[in-house]
Amino acid sequence: MKLEIDQQRLNSEIETLAAISDAEPPAVTRIVFTPTDLKARAWVISLCKEAGLAVCQDAFGNIFARWNGSDSAAPAVGTGSHIDAIPNAGKYDGVVGVLGGLEAIRALHRSGFRPRHSIELLIFATEEPTRFGIGCLGSRLLSGTLSAEAAAKLKDRDGETVDEVRRKAGFNGNLQDVKLPKGYYRGFVELHIEQGPLLERARISLGIVKSIAAPASLRISIEGAGGHAGGVLMPDRKDALCAAAELILAIEDAARSSGALDTVATVGVCDVFPGAVNSIPSRVRITLDIRDTDLTRRDGAMQTIEAASQKIEAKRQVSIQSEVLNADAPADCAPEVRAALSDSCREHGFPFLEMVSRAYHDSLFLSRIAPTGMLFIPCRNGYSHRPDEYATPEDIARGALVLAEALAKLAGSSQ
Ligand code: GLV
Ligand code: MN
Ligand code: MN
Repeated sequence: MKLEIDQQRLNSEIETLAAISDAEPPAVTRIVFTPTDLKARAWVISLCKEAGLAVCQDAFGNIFARWNGSDSAAPAVGTGSHIDAIPNAGKYDGVVGVLGGLEAIRALHRSGFRPRHSIELLIFATEEPTRFGIGCLGSRLLSGTLSAEAAAKLKDRDGETVDEVRRKAGFNGNLQDVKLPKGYYRGFVELHIEQGPLLERARISLGIVKSIAAPASLRISIEGAGGHAGGVLMPDRKDALCAAAELILAIEDAARSSGALDTVATVGVCDVFPGAVNSIPSRVRITLDIRDTDLTRRDGAMQTIEAASQKIEAKRQVSIQSEVLNADAPADCAPEVRAALSDSCREHGFPFLEMVSRAYHDSLFLSRIAPTGMLFIPCRNGYSHRPDEYATPEDIARGALVLAEALAKLAGSSQ
């Protein structure tokens, strides 16, 4: 089997997809189920159909593009990622796994390989938490990690529920049907940019993921008392933003003092009400994103934050309510998928690093129902979730090549 990745075509497809965006280039913004996201999805579907894949979408908008194997009733081998992008993002997060996965399938087809098990490209809906506050909604539903009832009720910032938003986008089926049947995949591999600096620092072009860190996210609401910025004397204030500021620093401190660099915590949203220059903030809503490779340590940091929050409540006479949106366990990648990836690397003489994924991915949830692995490629300076995110066409093509070989090993040949 002689596999050749069409690097130029893949690169040009990445550029075309980046232009379907709500941000000024080079930034990319593609929030799930917006007209822009729907346009991007339609374009990717057209590429899949052009490649001869059978395309279908479930009630949540997860897209399946299948190359039927000779044993089409047997469990499939999956690959894929997401094309939604956070505000002011780059071109590669998720996209490399979708378009690289498609090119891997096209390369296998061109080589004359015919799979025994079907090979399926899966484009997950809503990997990013931007719209509904919780990431990986598509894969949570596919894996049954989140119930259809709970997902349907989640709301975006405008108060629209998941159910309303997905129906407006044209997905009217039953959310209960999104969960994949047992044994649907015999293996799943996601190609992704590293989103960290380790591969680049080690000057190694490929990373095989051993485990994926455990993410948790919370919505925190701080209620104080508003009033006139001139009239209310300082000792009488219950300023919700000052309380939030203390809490944000306590969050930073909890992560810094956990005893390991693997604990990371971020407050990325801060909504201040009423948001007027001369009005004391009466209500603040912040988000907390906290992760660790070690579940006990992450939960310990969450407890430290909770204790700090109670102290701030008492000291500043405000009320602080936390809602845990998700607190997921980490995942180990499957030995058989890791072996398919490392054998492919060795056959080509490509060095690789075995590593932990500190970012979360849909693979975290797929791993609950199928043997799952991930292949990383470097991104410049480790930058991601910013417009200057960059991966070289050579690294992307190398990743797609190793992915293609791993898919072939997992799917087996029909000949
Ligand atoms: C995924 O986008 C993450 O935030 O890790
Ligand atoms: Mn992302
Ligand atoms: Mn991603």
